[in-house]
Amino acid sequence: MIELKSKIAQFEFENPLMNASGVWCENAEKLDEMKNSSSGSFVTKSATPQLREGNPSPRYVEVPLGSINSMGLPNLGFDFYLNYSLKFQEENPGKINFLSIAGMSMEDNLEMLHKLNDSDFKGLTELNLSCPNVPGKPQIGYDFEATEKILEKAFEFFKKPLGVKLPPYFDFAHFDEMAEILNQFPLAYVNCINSVGNGLYIDTENESVVIKPKDGFGGIGGAYVKPTALANVRAFYTRLNKNIKIIGCGGVESGKDVFEHLLCGAEMVQIGTHLARNGVQVFDKILTELSEIMNQKGYNSIDEFRGKLKSL
Ligand code: FUM
Repeated sequence: MIELKSKIAQFEFENPLMNASGVWCENAEKLDEMKNSSSGSFVTKSATPQLREGNPSPRYVEVPLGSINSMGLPNLGFDFYLNYSLKFQEENPGKINFLSIAGMSMEDNLEMLHKLNDSDFKGLTELNLSCPNVPGKPQIGYDFEATEKILEKAFEFFKKPLGVKLPPYFDFAHFDEMAEILNQFPLAYVNCINSVGNGLYIDTENESVVIKPKDGFGGIGGAYVKPTALANVRAFYTRLNKNIKIIGCGGVESGKDVFEHLLCGAEMVQIGTHLARNGVQVFDKILTELSEIMNQKGYNSIDEFRGKLKSL
């Protein structure tokens, strides 16, 4: 019998799979599908205090090796996702979801964290420090001082399990510096990675960009980003205190991709572009593939190989 259980903070999940925030989670219909899927958990669309329409369309386009998007945080507003989560936990005792927030300012984020802290929400909160798509708002995760400051302010009062969603980093100096900051705080997890920000995909025939916002610049996801995602998972797994778990996100399309994220040290693994393209049935297929790989290799549980990537 293959054991796929994963654990973050005090919560145990049947399996390590979930959606990436932004995919299949923006409204009740999609969240219900996630809830009824075979994923181990789900995360809600990153919320702002009030409903946001987001950027003009076209703002998400699938391209041969992945996707490019500049959604601009369209969401139904914080209260919708909190109420959905409270209802979910009431109807499914013992099960929890992740609630993602991405304010337009430090004040927005602190306001939502206060509301969560004062609510009956029992799940995991994800502070998204890495949305690349709001014109005029740089990603907080690339501003090390701002990241440290928001975490200092948050942990002055926030008493529930909290994780952060990070942008990809590309230099050992940045892995080191960010890990040193994160290690100062009682984080439940870090999520690596958000999309690779501000890529440009070109339609050669029309000599044009393919999405409307920001003159075509957008976050890249899918197969393009798997090596970057794995590198970030590995870099933080080897640098962070062991009580800070890692969620891997980026380029996952198969059980083999999940196995690689787990081997790098991920506790849970999220699916974005592939889920957007194929719907929630991907979870069944990927879980079967993961179990087959583990079976072939003689592993009975993820803990037998998690983080055990070999160096040469
Ligand atoms: O544009 C967006 O809504 C994306 C958000 C994110 O990447 O966190």
